[in-house]
Amino acid sequence: MNSLTIARAIHILSIVVWIGGVCFVTAIILPAIKLQFSFAQQESIFQLVENRFAKLAKWMVVIAGISGFYMVYLLDAWDRFFSLQFFWMHAMVLVWLIFMLALFVVEPLLAKSHGAHNSNPEQSLKLTLRLHIVLLTFSLLTVFVSVLGAHGAFY
Ligand code: HEM
Repeated sequence: MNSLTIARAIHILSIVVWIGGVCFVTAIILPAIKLQFSFAQQESIFQLVENRFAKLAKWMVVIAGISGFYMVYLLDAWDRFFSLQFFWMHAMVLVWLIFMLALFVVEPLLAKSHGAHNSNPEQSLKLTLRLHIVLLTFSLLTVFVSVLGAHGAFY
């Protein structure tokens, strides 16, 4: 077993926990909260779940990035980023960048301003759910095309 195989296994493990978690929050937790609780309660329950998941997701996103770039280095595949054929490599890095920004920049900023009262919790939960659906769809599509791409489907 070589370092590339180990890096690949670690990469996929982190992706499973991270994107699997996003899927669980989006498909199960958010709709359940919407159905069961009052608007006032919805926001605080969502914050509780999302904050706990964010801690785990941060580690997974960092591990996915390290293992991903380590594979690019081992494969000496930097030139893939200049070729359209490897659009799935661009998609992986884009998903990674979006989550890095969301978890390490946007969320802490929102948490800081969260002390201020949210005047429209219903609207903000709706927007949160929509954003999660878009991000989850893009992430799952990326997983799909990355497996195809890594196994030679596009050349
Ligand atoms: C910094 C971000 C990332 C980098 C640099 C990166 C890099 C890589 C590399 C080099 C490979 C191996 C390609 C090959 O064998 O030819 C790979 C495989 C893969 N990556 Fe990423 N990746 C990143 C993020 C992601 C994300 C966010 C996802 C999921 C949304 C993802 C999902 C996958 C999948 C499913 C494979 C295919 C594994 C296989 O079937 O062998 N990666 N990645």
